[in-house]
Amino acid sequence: MAEPRLAVRRKSRSSSERKRSRAPAQPVAASSPVARKRASPGGEGAPAEAPCSNDSEEDLFGDYDSFYGNDSLIAQVDDTEHKYLQGKDVDGTAAGEIVLGNLQPGVHQKEQDNFSASRNVLKGDREEGACQVCDSDPAGGNPELTESALDDLPSSQLLYFEKMDELSAVSRTSALSKGRDERVNSFSDKIRDPLTFYAGAEHRNRPEHRPTDSSSHSKCVLFKSESLKDHLKSAMTGNARAQTLQVSKTKQLQEAVLSEEIFVARKAIESSSLDRGPFYGLPSKVKDLFRQLRGIETLYEWQHDCLMLESLQQRKNLIYSLPTGGGKTLVAEIIILQELLCRQKDVLVILPYVAIVQEKVRGLSSFGIELGFLVEEYAGSKGRFPPIKRRVKKSLYIATIEKGHALVNSLIETERIDDLGLVVVDELHMLGEGSRGAVLEITLAKILYTSKKTQIIGMSATLNNVGDLQKFLQAEYYANNFRPVELKEYIKIRDTIYAVDSKTENGFAFSRLLNFKYSSNLEKADPDHIIALVTEVIPKYSCLIFCPTKKNCENVASMVCKYLKKEFRVHKEKEKEDLIKNLKSIGNGTVCPVLKQTIPFGIAYHHSGLTNDERKSIEEAYSAGVLCVLACTATLAAGVNLPARRVILRAPYVGNDFLKKNQYKQMAGRAGRAGIDSAGESILIVQEKDKHLVQDLVHSPLENCYSNLLQELTKGIQSLLLSLVGLKIAVTHEEVDNFMCCTLLGVQQQLLSKEKSLSEIIKDGLENLIEKGLLKGRISEKDHNSKSTLTITPLGKATYKGSIDLAYCNILYRDLKKGLEGLVLESNLHLLYLSTPYDMTSTCSPDWMIYLRQFNQLSAAEQKVADIVGVPESFITKKASGQAIRKNVDDAVVNRFYLTFVLYALLKETNIWSVSEKFNLSRGYVQNLISSAASFASCLLHFCEELEEFWVYKALLIELTKQLTYCVKTELIPLMEVAGVLEARAKQLYNAGYKTLAHLANANPETLVRMIEHLSRRQAKQIVSSAKMLLSEKAEALQEEVEELLKVPTDIPGTH
Ligand SMILES: Nc1ncnc2c1ncn2[C@@H]1O[C@H](COP(=O)(O)OP(=O)(O)OP(=O)(O)O)[C@@H](O)[C@H]1O
Ligand SMILES: [Mg+2]
Repeated sequence: MAEPRLAVRRKSRSSSERKRSRAPAQPVAASSPVARKRASPGGEGAPAEAPCSNDSEEDLFGDYDSFYGNDSLIAQVDDTEHKYLQGKDVDGTAAGEIVLGNLQPGVHQKEQDNFSASRNVLKGDREEGACQVCDSDPAGGNPELTESALDDLPSSQLLYFEKMDELSAVSRTSALSKGRDERVNSFSDKIRDPLTFYAGAEHRNRPEHRPTDSSSHSKCVLFKSESLKDHLKSAMTGNARAQTLQVSKTKQLQEAVLSEEIFVARKAIESSSLDRGPFYGLPSKVKDLFRQLRGIETLYEWQHDCLMLESLQQRKNLIYSLPTGGGKTLVAEIIILQELLCRQKDVLVILPYVAIVQEKVRGLSSFGIELGFLVEEYAGSKGRFPPIKRRVKKSLYIATIEKGHALVNSLIETERIDDLGLVVVDELHMLGEGSRGAVLEITLAKILYTSKKTQIIGMSATLNNVGDLQKFLQAEYYANNFRPVELKEYIKIRDTIYAVDSKTENGFAFSRLLNFKYSSNLEKADPDHIIALVTEVIPKYSCLIFCPTKKNCENVASMVCKYLKKEFRVHKEKEKEDLIKNLKSIGNGTVCPVLKQTIPFGIAYHHSGLTNDERKSIEEAYSAGVLCVLACTATLAAGVNLPARRVILRAPYVGNDFLKKNQYKQMAGRAGRAGIDSAGESILIVQEKDKHLVQDLVHSPLENCYSNLLQELTKGIQSLLLSLVGLKIAVTHEEVDNFMCCTLLGVQQQLLSKEKSLSEIIKDGLENLIEKGLLKGRISEKDHNSKSTLTITPLGKATYKGSIDLAYCNILYRDLKKGLEGLVLESNLHLLYLSTPYDMTSTCSPDWMIYLRQFNQLSAAEQKVADIVGVPESFITKKASGQAIRKNVDDAVVNRFYLTFVLYALLKETNIWSVSEKFNLSRGYVQNLISSAASFASCLLHFCEELEEFWVYKALLIELTKQLTYCVKTELIPLMEVAGVLEARAKQLYNAGYKTLAHLANANPETLVRMIEHLSRRQAKQIVSSAKMLLSEKAEALQEEVEELLKVPTDIPGTH
């Protein structure tokens, strides 16, 4: 592809371009990271400002702020700082030694060793001045320290040491301490801003960021503390950025070039120059990274055109739509990098599932490390609210829909929403999908209304009513039909294959007869000829079979392998044995019998009944070609890049519902992904009786995307109205009306609500909230008094802060209040009951015998809990013996208590497998239950924090949330913090000696591959990159805290 000569240019939009009204700014006490830390009663390891809403996808991840919890480091810095300021006359180098030498924890100690060792090596090249430094060096003259030791250091550290060395040489030869101070000061400036450090030109051109304080004393204090902080920073970031690959001078050069290019790009944006940089305004290193990490040599024509769109150059919002596998991600990623590197703004990416978020974090961490931005995960119970404000590096937040919403709320509340330069929404059609769609709509509407500066980009393969979405998002639209790998769509009726062709009257045209020879037995077992369809492609190519139900997935996998020839067993036999071994270790010695039977043939099933660990192992084995058939549910339908020469849709149903066009397109679109497959086809198996429905499906357009705010009443419009007042985005009836006109519901109001106007709906909603005791104020007709202010009550605030579904907030309040009268604390059973998510009770039907057995195992005090919450023993006994029951008992409470039993057993045993067996539930369900409970417990915590009467719950809930979040052995937690490292992998790593995050961040991927079974090179690299990123993020966070602590207040009494 030709390099773009006219690079994309962006201007900030004029206010008339995007008519957004901004809510009157209300002063909100923005809490600093430090303040937040101090306010948290949790102490070490306490969950941070926590996730407030459940992700709709299960996961076992959680937040673990071990780094934050470590106050001792700060205390040591304070201490050292104090000593330093007492007048020790040391130069820049010595200051570094003092700080580093006093730090005890391993990471810092290690850094110290590196520091002295490298400096020692460097001295060899130096002249006299440097030798003087060497004399006082305790490690002086160590013969083992050679040039190769230098090569092993990350380039960032090399530069640091070289500068240090130069500096010390200069300061030794200089007699004037004043002059020395200035040089050290200018050096610390350079270190503090890596861009200016590398990009000398920029540094020269930039005005000095010196403190302007006129008091010479405070100037001196400031300088010294800055230099100290800089050493600390270098020590920590050096370790965080430690490269495992050998780093040469060439690498240093490359980094310098990169910084220079970023600098040029930034300058070009500022000066509105047309030519912004070699690769869409980005450094050429970005292009190299796409080549190395993604195998992308050139952009597709449409990708280039899209990036060059006038609307993008003007920073307008944009929706773009291409078929599945069209390469939409790359365009979004380039725009994201432009925002992070050139415009220096934070970016939020919203993705539909936890697993996809983790995949993206892993995939983009290497970019972050190479290009100097942070990648932060917001999924499950990970993510800080509000996010830490970074001074230098920009953050890329990768979030699920729910966590994205919580993040945006926290940014609005702290008046930082303008820091968000760009929001990217993948799978934008999710706007039309139930409560998640409602939450996505609420999030986007809030951004549109509160920030004029945030650009929104949405993409999807399956959009129809784009006009509505454009209106809602005030966005331009780009569409193209390009698909790099042609997708051929077929349907099969009896033994005939037809090509899907919407131009024909039928919707399909004869293609061929299926070639197979079935015995009568086989015909009975496989009337749909799945085996024939599968064996046409495997084992050379892979095949996904989408099935309507989970049970069906397992049945199909079993059936296919039963009739496959023995030869299929030979293909990759050893790898398949390894996979079974791996699954056995995941399952603490047990493997699902179906998988044990199917895997030797290269076949497995995949659905939400599996644990996350199992799913991941199976996906990896499938990607590597060890497995060649997956029988799966729609969980694998959106956004995933797995190899599939052929996709078979086993029936035109999802559960009991007939397939929708969007679902069909998404499933079929998994076939033939560029870079993985060179061809792709889908075959939909159709019974004669469904033929007409399928014809309609072929001819029908994609489904429209409709607002779900009304349908999802309590999670939709009511929750929105409450948070609008709570966040002070809109506090009068009139303002709320104005806001609501900017939602998708506002755009579609006439279509979606024929009987009532939007204003009436809003009025009813606000009245309802007042009735429920969540809002205070008076609502009157639009023309009368619509300017009177609404306020949020403490219960309302607790509800919105805790992201509690409005359907449950009053029950929750009552339950907690009742708990205050007599909380049984003999065990955590009672507290667990309060933390059992209300919305899961409908998915559970108790086995009464198990219920009774569990009840009988409780102590007398625990049995009292059942009575207190409203589950009488007589009720369980009667149910178990099948007797009729007259007593009026609340089913929801009984079911909820049953789920509490499951959680109780899980916390005791920490073994999902044995617990799911005990309760006869699928292990995927059990895993989902515990992660939902962890999320709900943290929501409860936030709810209680807002209501003084519930103070006593706070300490209890912090501990319980931690237990629920990490239902694994404590030692595995630091490893499981790394995106995508699940329990099984964490165990392997731990047993191989990788016990901390720093171990992983500094690991050599090649060694990892050698030491850890079933770990590919790509996975090893991703684990190391993600660990590096996390460590770097934590180090940055700590630096922020140090900065905050050491900042000299401007309002010290008596100084003015
Ligand atoms: N310019 C390119 N050259 C080579 N391969 C590319 C290019 N752009 C994208 N790809 C590859 O194409 C595949 C599909 O891309 P991507 O995942 O972005 O599709 P998509 O449009 O998001 O599809 P879906 O709607 O199914 O999510 C990926 O494997 C990606 O690496
Ligand atoms: Mg995609």
